Amino acid sequence: MAIRLGDTAPDFEAQTTEGKIRFHEWLGTGWGILFSHPRDFTPVCTTELGEVAKLKKEFERRNTKVIALSVDSVDDHRKWSVDIEETQGQKPNYPLIADPDRKIANLYDMIHPNADNTLTVRSVFIIGPDKKVKLTLTYPASTGRNFDEILRVLDSLQLTANHSVATPVNWKDGEDCIVVPSLTDEQAKAKFPKGFKTIKPYLRITPQPNK
Ligand code: BEZ
Repeated sequence: MAIRLGDTAPDFEAQTTEGKIRFHEWLGTGWGILFSHPRDFTPVCTTELGEVAKLKKEFERRNTKVIALSVDSVDDHRKWSVDIEETQGQKPNYPLIADPDRKIANLYDMIHPNADNTLTVRSVFIIGPDKKVKLTLTYPASTGRNFDEILRVLDSLQLTANHSVATPVNWKDGEDCIVVPSLTDEQAKAKFPKGFKTIKPYLRITPQPNK
């Protein structure tokens, strides 16, 4: 069964490069990103895992933990991490889940048999502090993900959660936001001291609240 936005992220126990974890307990009270990659010792995955390690401070700034998964073993993950450091300049500084029996991959519908019968696709799940799934992404094995985009979505999600704004097309950090339609004008006046501009009754623009 596919996981949909708003679903509770399924909990699981797993062996990782940082020991055994129970997922929800590991997530704690902040945000989390679970991402899968097809397999160890492959070129695109090598670049992705190095990049995520380099972005550690960006994830921390957003109170977000990251964790990767593939169907390989902890032993392979550890050996491959040496290559990642050698080729990308940074080894993974977050846990890599070993899922050789594909238990978690199946739980999260990360295997798409018409693409590949055994390997995980490139899935991303952003999970909120309430353990609900806020974003899902699915990329093919041959296309590396854009983690700048994943940070951008995380910023947008956190703005919505904390400040009742949505973000328009191609929004970037620091640009104007949209007042969520569920707020009345009266509520918006109270909530946004910098004010808002009404272009249409359903399209109200306000400066990014946390800037
Ligand atoms: C890669 O990570 O480079 C990759 C993995 C599986 C299929 C194609 C590419």
